[in-house]
Amino acid sequence: MNSLGTLKPFVTPTVKVSRLFDSHDIDIYAKLDLLQLAGSTKERTANGLIEELLSSGQLQTGGMIIESTSGNLGIALARQCVVRGVRFTAVVDENANPLALELMKAYGAAVNRVQTPADGNKLAARRQRVLDLLEEHPGSVTTNQYGSPANPRAHFETTMPEIIAGSGGNLDYLFVATSTTGTLLGCQQYVQEHGLDTKIVAVDSVGSVLFGGAAGTRRLPGLGAGVLPELAAAAEPDMVFQIEEIDMVRGCRRLARREGILAGASTGAIVAAMGKLLPNLKGGTRIGFMVHDTGVPYLQTVYNDEWVRSTLHQEPDLAQDTTAETNNLAGQ
Ligand SMILES: Cc1ncc(COP(=O)(O)O)c(C=O)c1O
Repeated sequence: MNSLGTLKPFVTPTVKVSRLFDSHDIDIYAKLDLLQLAGSTKERTANGLIEELLSSGQLQTGGMIIESTSGNLGIALARQCVVRGVRFTAVVDENANPLALELMKAYGAAVNRVQTPADGNKLAARRQRVLDLLEEHPGSVTTNQYGSPANPRAHFETTMPEIIAGSGGNLDYLFVATSTTGTLLGCQQYVQEHGLDTKIVAVDSVGSVLFGGAAGTRRLPGLGAGVLPELAAAAEPDMVFQIEEIDMVRGCRRLARREGILAGASTGAIVAAMGKLLPNLKGGTRIGFMVHDTGVPYLQTVYNDEWVRSTLHQEPDLAQDTTAETNNLAGQ
């Protein structure tokens, strides 16, 4: 029994996936953070950020949190605020998934929507709105997911140790998607401090500026950034993959139809990135990857054929994504 009830993030399962790719001699482990109560890895981030504000005295029960979020952090903060007796306002942009907003509202959160500015920089517009609201509401605080050390610390203290424990350790590669880079930094710091050989692979979106890319249109939430977050300066991934949105869609569908895991766009990007690296790996290589969030809020986008055809102008499915080799399915 969990004596802390619904306050703390869960220790999520790490499972071996053997149907995802046709190579039989690479061990792949999925960290199922879609099973967090808030449905994503941001449950950990939100918990870390709120604990920091409470322990430093910046936030008290009955207080208010205002945060810019494209969806998952908002859902997780909304949930965390319920169990901590704190009010919550989410500042979102037009990219925000309508279902994510409904989820935040279901937890009692207020949602404040920013229009896309003339320069197209949604993230900067959201951050400015947060500053305006903080001024309007004395005593309110922001969690600053883009710069707070409590963000990576949450992943240093929970995500990476759990992955190691759940996979038996000795991972050669760990794939994480990147937005604030908090998850990556926490895992990276753990690897460095414990002298591990694990290579950290950052999975980003085409159109994101995180790793020197040019800013461009990004329709799917969860990964990438239009402006460099403060935290990103410390990110030192061993490898970076920038993934097209159609490949995120195909990665998600492959994971759902080959492995029975319904995940969101950033996990689809990770599947696509793993597919690119796999042909270069030698037998016996051990890989871990984050299943960052549940695919349910993506049913009208990633998993909707019409949306994919009309928005991304490509066919959603590739034959090899839906059909595994017969002998790969047999006996498992
Ligand atoms: C769906 C999703 N993708 C990617 C990430 C990684 O984001 P960040 O770099 O902000 O830790 C998260 C983190 O929780 C997430 O929920």
